[in-house]
Amino acid sequence: MSDAQQLSGRHVLLGLSGGIACYKIAELTRLLVKAGAMVQVVMTEAAQAFITPVTMQALSNRPVYTSQWDAREDNNMAHINLSREADLMLIAPASADFIAKLAQGRADELLSLTALARPLDRCPLAVAPAMNREMWAHPATQRNVAQLRADGALVFGPDHGDQACGEVGDGRMLEASELFDEVVAFFQPKVLAGKKLLLTAGPTFEPIDPVRGLTNLSSGKMGFAVAQAAAQAGADVTLVAGPVHLPTPRGVTRIDVQTAQQMFDAVLPRASAFDVFIGTAAVADWRPVQAHAHKVKKQTGDSSVLSFDLTENPDILAAVAAQAAQDPRHQPFCVGFAAESQDLARHARDKLVRKKVQLVVGNLGPATFGRDDNALLLVDASGDRELPRADKLSLARELVRDIARRLGRVDQI
Ligand code: C5P
Repeated sequence: MSDAQQLSGRHVLLGLSGGIACYKIAELTRLLVKAGAMVQVVMTEAAQAFITPVTMQALSNRPVYTSQWDAREDNNMAHINLSREADLMLIAPASADFIAKLAQGRADELLSLTALARPLDRCPLAVAPAMNREMWAHPATQRNVAQLRADGALVFGPDHGDQACGEVGDGRMLEASELFDEVVAFFQPKVLAGKKLLLTAGPTFEPIDPVRGLTNLSSGKMGFAVAQAAAQAGADVTLVAGPVHLPTPRGVTRIDVQTAQQMFDAVLPRASAFDVFIGTAAVADWRPVQAHAHKVKKQTGDSSVLSFDLTENPDILAAVAAQAAQDPRHQPFCVGFAAESQDLARHARDKLVRKKVQLVVGNLGPATFGRDDNALLLVDASGDRELPRADKLSLARELVRDIARRLGRVDQI
C-alpha cells in the first residue's frame, strides 16, 4: 500500500532534546531515510545522555551536529547553514524545557539557535512533545505550547498512555511510525482542506449462522489508502469499514460494521453532511434471508444438498446518490468503484449511469484484491482516464487530486 519513496528529495532537520523518548528517534530516522528523505540530525547535550551521536550518524548516514562551535563548517555557522537546506525542522523529542526555550526565543546552544535562525517561510517547525503528564498539564507548558502554535509551529501529539515514569496520562511522545505519518502528511498538498469525506471500504460479511457467512476477497487496502490520502490532503475523513484487519490511517474516524445493512445504516443518515462520498467497499449483493440462531449441523451419512434463500442487499452508493439528488446543494459528490473481471470501461460506464454518480473508478478484481498495487480507470460522463499500475497509496493520491479538481480546487493542485 505504501509509496516506498514518498519523501524522496525532502530534507528533514531532525533535532533531539533530552528525554527517554530519544530511543524512538532511531526508528523514526530509519523510516525517514528508507522513504528517501535526507535527514540531518542535531542533538542537545541532554539528548546525548539518552542516545549516542554514533547511533544517529549510522542511521542518518550523515555526521551529527552537537555544538554551535563545530569547526567543520567553513564559515563556522552551523546554526545558519543547517536550516537553509531543510524543508522541515522537527524537534523530537521536544522536552518541556526545550519547548520553554523555543517559546521564549532563547538560543544558548546549537539546536535552539538553529530553530531561531531558521527562515520562517521556507523551513517550518514541528515539535513532538515528550514528558511526564504533570509536566505536560502544567499551565506553564500549556502556555508555552500555545505560544509555539501562535508562532506558527506544528505540534505532533502528544499521546495518552503508559509513561516511562510508571504513570499513565497525556505527554507520551507519538510512536516512530506515527511521527513518520505526520511528516509524510506535512508534505502533501492540502487540496481537500476544509472538505468532509465519507467512504466505505473492505468486504461485508453476511451471516449464515453464528460461525459462517458469505463474504468476498476484498482486502480493504484500496479504500484504506484512499482514506489515508484524503486525510493527508487535509480532508476530515470518516471511514465505514467492513471486517478487515488494517490499521486505521492517522487522523481518520473509523466506524466498523459487518453486514451490508449495517454499512447502509452507518452511511445513509450521515451522508448529506459530507462533501464527498466514495464507495470503495465490495458490498455483498445478497444475504441469507434468515441467519440461523445456532450452527447448522452436518447430518452423518446425509449427502443431501443444503439450500438457503438469499435476498438482495440495499445499494448504498445508489441510495446516497439518490438522496444527494434531493439536496438543493447536491451533496455529496458521489464516487463509485467497479471491480470487474473483464470489459472494465463498459461495466464502469454502465454503473455510472445506473447508480447516477459523478465518477466511477474501475479496477480488475483479480488484479487488485489483496494486492498492494493496482491500476485504475476513471470514468465520467465526458470520458475515461487511465491511472497506470502503481502502489495503492500513489493511486489514491492521484484519485484525491482528481476529485479535488472536480470540486474546483484547481488553484491548489
Ligand atoms: O453494483 P456493484 O457492486 O457492481 O457496484 C459497485 C459500487 O457500488 C461500489 O462503489 C460499491 O461500493 C457500491 N455498492 C454499494 N452497495 C451495494 C453494492 C455496491 O454501495 N449493495
